[in-house]
Amino acid sequence: MSEAKTTTISSARDLESRFGFDEGEVSLHIDDGRGTLPRVVLGHDGARAEVYLHGAHVTAYEPADQREVLFIGRSARYEPGKAIRGGIPICFPWFGSRAADPYAPSHGLARTKDWKLGGVGRVDGGVEAMFETRIEKLDVRYRVNLGSTFRVTLEATNIGDEATIVETAMHSYFAVGDIREGVAIEGLNGRTYLDQLQGRARVVEEAEALFFEAETDRVYLDTANRHVIIDPLYQRRLIVETEGCPSTVVWNPWIEKTMRMGDVEDDEWPKFVCLETGAIADDELSVEPGGVCRFSTCIEAVDLER
Ligand code: BG6
Repeated sequence: MSEAKTTTISSARDLESRFGFDEGEVSLHIDDGRGTLPRVVLGHDGARAEVYLHGAHVTAYEPADQREVLFIGRSARYEPGKAIRGGIPICFPWFGSRAADPYAPSHGLARTKDWKLGGVGRVDGGVEAMFETRIEKLDVRYRVNLGSTFRVTLEATNIGDEATIVETAMHSYFAVGDIREGVAIEGLNGRTYLDQLQGRARVVEEAEALFFEAETDRVYLDTANRHVIIDPLYQRRLIVETEGCPSTVVWNPWIEKTMRMGDVEDDEWPKFVCLETGAIADDELSVEPGGVCRFSTCIEAVDLER
C-alpha cells in the first residue's frame, strides 16, 4: 500500500491523479459522488464498492454476478455534517447517546467527519483503500478491502496520556427482499441482549433464528464471530464474520418510526435489516495511552442453493 502518498487535499480530481489506478480487473478511482462529495470506487474481478470520504462511509458493495448487498435510502442526504442513511455508517467513538454528554451527536463523530484518503493498493488478494482521521485523542484508520469478499477494519490508537473508553459499530444496512418474508438472522441464540425499546432491559435470546414482526432494536452482548442473514426472496445468505467485535446490534425501524425519520421513505423499511458489529455497553473497551483497538467485519454473499 502506498501510504507515502497521504494528502490533505480532497478534491476528487486531485485524489484521482494521485491515487487512481486501473489494471483491468482491478481498479480504484476517485470521482465526485452525490452532493459532489469525493467518492472512492473500487473494482475487483467484476465486484464493485464505493466509499465516500465523508464519514469514510461505504455506500455500495456489489459482488460479481450478484445484486447489491447494501441498502441506501432514496432520500439519503449527501451533505457535510449529516450522516448518510444506509450503507455502512461508522459509529465511533460512542454508540447512541454519550453517557457523559447529553448534547453529543448520536453514534459519535466518525460518520459526519471528512476523512483523508491515506493510501491505496493491492492487499490480501483484494484492492484496498485506507482512510484516516483524528477524533479527540484517537488516531483512526479504516481499511476497506474488496476481493472475493468485502472487509472493513477500523483501528484506533490512543495518542493521549489517559486511558479512553471506546464504543463502536459498523452499522451495516443490508438490503433484503422483504424483511417480513422469512428474513432471519442466525447466530444469536443464547446471547443476552439489551432491548433498546424497553429501556435496555436485559433479555436472553431464545430463538434459534431471529425473524421480524415488529420494530426491533437490540444490542446483543458477547456474541459469536459469525452471523448469517437468510433471505428467501433474494435467494441468498449474507455471511458476516468479525474479529474483535463482541457486540452485535439488530435494528429495523418498522412503520411508525420510519414515518418519524426524515431520510427513510415510508415504503423503504421492509427493504433492509441492520446488523451492526462492534463493541457497545458492557463490551466497550478501555484503550490505554499508546494502545490500539481493532475491529474487523467481513461480508460475503452466497446463493441459497449453494
Ligand atoms: C441503531 C440504534 O443502531 O441506529 C437505533 O440501535 C437507532 O436505536 C438507529 O434508531 C439509527 O440511528 P440514527 O442516529 O442513524 O438515526
